Amino acid sequence: MRISIVGTGYVGLVTGACLAEVGHDVTCVDNDRLKLEAIGRGRSPIFEEGLESILQRRIGGRLNVTDDLPAAVLESDLTFIAVGTPFDGEQIDLSYVRQAAKQVGRALRAKNAYHVVVMKSTVVPGTTDDVVTPALAEASGRSVGNEFGVGMNPEFLTEGSAVEDFMNPDRIVLGGIDDRTIGVMAEVYAPFEGAPVVRTTNKTAEMIKYASNAVLATMISFSNEIANLSSTLGGIDAVEVMNAVHLSRYFTMPTEGGKRSTAPITSFLHAGCGFGGSCLPKDVKALVAQGRSAGEPMTLLKGVMSVNETQPARMIGIIRRHFPRLKGLRVSVLGLAFKPDTDDMRESPAISIISELIGAGVSVTAYDPVVNGAAEKVLPAGPPITIASSLEQAIEGVDAVVIATSWREFECLPALLSGRSNAPLVVDGRRTLRMDGIERYDGIGL
Ligand SMILES: NC(=O)c1ccc[n+]([C@@H]2O[C@H](COP(=O)([O-])OP(=O)(O)OC[C@H]3O[C@@H](n4cnc5c(N)ncnc54)[C@H](O)[C@@H]3O)[C@@H](O)[C@H]2O)c1
Repeated sequence: MRISIVGTGYVGLVTGACLAEVGHDVTCVDNDRLKLEAIGRGRSPIFEEGLESILQRRIGGRLNVTDDLPAAVLESDLTFIAVGTPFDGEQIDLSYVRQAAKQVGRALRAKNAYHVVVMKSTVVPGTTDDVVTPALAEASGRSVGNEFGVGMNPEFLTEGSAVEDFMNPDRIVLGGIDDRTIGVMAEVYAPFEGAPVVRTTNKTAEMIKYASNAVLATMISFSNEIANLSSTLGGIDAVEVMNAVHLSRYFTMPTEGGKRSTAPITSFLHAGCGFGGSCLPKDVKALVAQGRSAGEPMTLLKGVMSVNETQPARMIGIIRRHFPRLKGLRVSVLGLAFKPDTDDMRESPAISIISELIGAGVSVTAYDPVVNGAAEKVLPAGPPITIASSLEQAIEGVDAVVIATSWREFECLPALLSGRSNAPLVVDGRRTLRMDGIERYDGIGL
């Protein structure tokens, strides 16, 4: 099928590359020229395992990029809208979605064949039917249902394993205004045999995405609350607690050898310094805001956010347990991306931790295996923050080391620190290291 995608970010580019890989003809549209130029040369603008090799195989063949949105829409049968939907402080910001819908609608004026427009962006329930569809109808002058269909296909990929997730979907959710629309969307996903397909309305598809993210955020904040209480009571290690919780038959599956294997969901039942990224925080906040305006108090999800927002400051609280004064300390913060295997720093807990440390008069050395260049754009440049170019450099001469992201590279920290005189305190915000290999160790949930 001929597919156009408006928005060539994490979701749009991965979707475009993977759909080209499985045999569709894809044109990715963006208004960021630099991004388009890089992709056109087969270079991925984001760090994502396996993405660049697909670009190099497909670019100029079944995958193309352009800033000419009308041409891309006219020369395709289906258009995905995959633009950003940030949180504006009060509610979801739909300005990019509105603009993209208007532009696609205007392009459809010149189209003489049936076309399907599919929302891929995460939007609060009701947006596709009440905002996108009227914008398309008005700008195109075409009739909904007869001349174009409108669908909603939420994306469940996880940054860090986005290509793998897209190529092996756990489910495909196809919302649509009618069977014809959903039928065309099903053709897009026909190559992904075996994945369960949910056919539903646009509004339900939108809620499926929010419910999927909100349950994960809830599990993380639940684990953090148990860890915080364990730490306050003393004499309890939250890691031991959670590992035993994971053994429950609700979280394990019998394997052939008669043993039990732990379900992947337990990775969200670990305490840490908070969740970040471009999705969980903004999506939970957007759902809470929508609930509030609909008259639902959203008590649980509000609590999920408030636990999360205080989690980075707990790292500073742990340092205070060991040093009478923070002013003048030198602290290394390891891991700037919001999770390992990605270069995405959006809403990363590391940013809050660094701001708190600097506010307390601490000199910070930050290090991440991947995002160091981009970090300089997000973090305040110059003293009291230095971006180190290696792990060894980052921990040189510091009083404390804070682990904010569980990159595998940090597993060698015990070996790097062993035998050092004046070993720094290691504050493990992800409880990723074995504490018995480290002279001075503390962390969340201890
Ligand atoms: N990042 C994720 O892991 C993830 C996962 C699932 C769903 N989502 C959702 O997918 C959507 C996109 O997220 P993202 O992370 O890919 O965003 P992003 O910010 O990385 O990319 C959005 C892109 O859209 C482009 N754009 C905006 N308006 C445009 C227009 N009118 N014409 C052409 N290009 C335009 C921007 O230049 C940018 O490149 C969001 O709603 C997000 O919540 C994201």
